[in-house]
Amino acid sequence: MDIVLSGIRSTGKLHLGNYFGALRNFIRMQEENRCYFFIADIHSLTTHPDPKLLHDNVKNVLVDYLAAGIDPKKSVIYVQSDVRETIELYLYLNMHAYMGELAKTASFKEKARKQPENVNAGLLTYPTLMAADILIHNADKVPVGKDQEQHLEMTRKFARRFNNFYGVDYFKEPVAYNFGDDLVKIPGLDGSGKMGKSEGNAIYLSDSPKEIEKKVKKALTDAGPAAPDSVKPDYIENLFTLLRVVSTPEVVQHYEDKWNSCEIRYGDLKKQLAEDIIKVTSPIRERIVEIEKDDSYLRRVTLEGAEMARESASKTIRDVREIVGFRSF
Ligand code: TRP
Repeated sequence: MDIVLSGIRSTGKLHLGNYFGALRNFIRMQEENRCYFFIADIHSLTTHPDPKLLHDNVKNVLVDYLAAGIDPKKSVIYVQSDVRETIELYLYLNMHAYMGELAKTASFKEKARKQPENVNAGLLTYPTLMAADILIHNADKVPVGKDQEQHLEMTRKFARRFNNFYGVDYFKEPVAYNFGDDLVKIPGLDGSGKMGKSEGNAIYLSDSPKEIEKKVKKALTDAGPAAPDSVKPDYIENLFTLLRVVSTPEVVQHYEDKWNSCEIRYGDLKKQLAEDIIKVTSPIRERIVEIEKDDSYLRRVTLEGAEMARESASKTIRDVREIVGFRSF
């Protein structure tokens, strides 16, 4: 059984793009793998978030994941800062991570450009913390998007370097797990290619049916096709892409036909689209509402998750301390 691990950015609520992207694949992966999912709240500190906001974001993400189907009985789900062994491994890995290579990481350069007033050492060592997250459980596979591939490459390098330096064969080199065709790219509602967090562009799993209807209604459309069988402009194609994800093939075909014969009524399409999105999100939203107010459940899940994560993490730290030469008398 492979060890699969993924860190989740704690930047607030999840939208349909997250759900049909990584999240649904995580839910499937729980069946055949030993999965570790954690909320990367230590990484968040690099941008100096307000403490209350940080906590609320961790809660939102945790609630969304649980409501969507990450099952604490099948997977280990935990909050990064609850497993201090990770921080210790991060320190050891930093001793073998070099200024030059860290400074030329794409994510570092981008962040340094975006927040020139706060180019801190945590930002520089973001990749070593991520490597510590992964190596602390000796994960085999890490599902990552394109933007994280370089970090994973660095993790492999750090693992290899540690093994070589100490003459051991201790850390595995984790491989990037690419969902390939299973990864559905969800477009935004504002005509942009990707659903993201900008205003009105995203439908959140926690949105009420009313909010969903309102957002879909506002999506960009036009006067309709000028001639039969026209090529759809991107913003119309996006609506069809969403429809293909949430509706039945018959419904999609119906609107394709209407488009091709220039009889399409966007009002109808949007009504159908909103209705079918609501069908997908409603059960999740209902669970979100339940879980959100159940602090004792959240406490239990995070305590048990941390305990299981620490079982594997503390074993790694014990071994690593021995390897680096911290030995008892
Ligand atoms: N850096 C990842 C992101 O921005 C989050 C993350 C932190 C992560 N630690 C990880 C992902 C370990 C995979 C493995 O999305």
